[in-house]
Amino acid sequence: MIETAQAFGIDIGGSGIKAAPVNLEKGEFAEPRLKILTPEVSTPDAVAKIVRQQLDHFEVPESAPVGIAFPAPIKPGQPLDFMANLDQSWVGVDVTEVFSEAAGRPVTVVNDADAAGLAEQQFGAAKGKEGLVIATTLGTGIGTALIIDGVLVPNTELGHLILNTKHLDAEKYAASSIKEQEDLSYKKWAKRLTKYYGLLEKYFNPDLFVIGGGVSRKSDKFIPFIDVKTPIVPAELRNEAGIVGAAYYASTRQA
Ligand code: BGC
Repeated sequence: MIETAQAFGIDIGGSGIKAAPVNLEKGEFAEPRLKILTPEVSTPDAVAKIVRQQLDHFEVPESAPVGIAFPAPIKPGQPLDFMANLDQSWVGVDVTEVFSEAAGRPVTVVNDADAAGLAEQQFGAAKGKEGLVIATTLGTGIGTALIIDGVLVPNTELGHLILNTKHLDAEKYAASSIKEQEDLSYKKWAKRLTKYYGLLEKYFNPDLFVIGGGVSRKSDKFIPFIDVKTPIVPAELRNEAGIVGAAYYASTRQA
C-alpha cells in the first residue's frame, strides 16, 4: 500500500465492491480505487472472497486499519438481522467475523451510509455544521446517516420509511436504481424525492440534507427540483465517501 495512505477502505454495494487506500490527512484516495462487480449471488462467501482480492491487490499491510462499509445496520459482535439488497443468507451472520476471517486480520465494519455521512462530516459538505444533518445516499437503495452537532447516531434505516399506503418502502420508490429501472426523467424523479425528503423534514426538522451516492455527480439536474424548505447540498466526496468514511472510522477504532 502506498505510503501516503494511513488506512484502507472498502465499500460493498449492490452493484460493485470498491476499495482504495485512503489519505486521512486529506480525506481522499491515495491511489485510484479498484471496482470489482458484486457477484450476482452475493453470499457471504462470495463477497468475502472479493474483500480478500481487494486487500491482496493493494498489498495492504496487516498493521493498516481496514474499514468496510456494508449495506445493512451493523452492531459489532451481533448477527445481522436485516438485509435489503444483498443475498438473504447474510441474515444471522456476524459480518465483522466473516470479513476478519477472510482478511486474516481484524477489520471494522460500519453501515455504508453511516460511513459516507462520517466522511462528509470530517472532510466534506457537513464539516463544521451544527444542528441536525441528515446525509443520504441514493443508489441501489437509500441509506441515511443522522449527525447531530458532529456526532453520528448510527444505523438509522430511514430509506425504508413508509411514504404512504401505496409505497411501503421509500427506497423502492425513490432510490436512483428505481429511476434507472423505470427510466424516469430527472424532473419526475425529483418529484418522488420531494415526497421522500418532505417526509424526513416533517418528522426530523433537520438543518441540512446532504445527498450522496453515484448520482450526486449529476446533482444540478435534480437537487434544484426537490421542493422542501431545508437546505440541500450535494455530497462533496460523492461516491468516494463510503470508502473514505470506512477507512476513517477504522482508524479511530484502531488508534
Ligand atoms: C439498507 C441500509 C443501507 C442502504 C444503502 C438500505 O437498503 O437497509 O442499511 O445503508 O440501503 O446501501
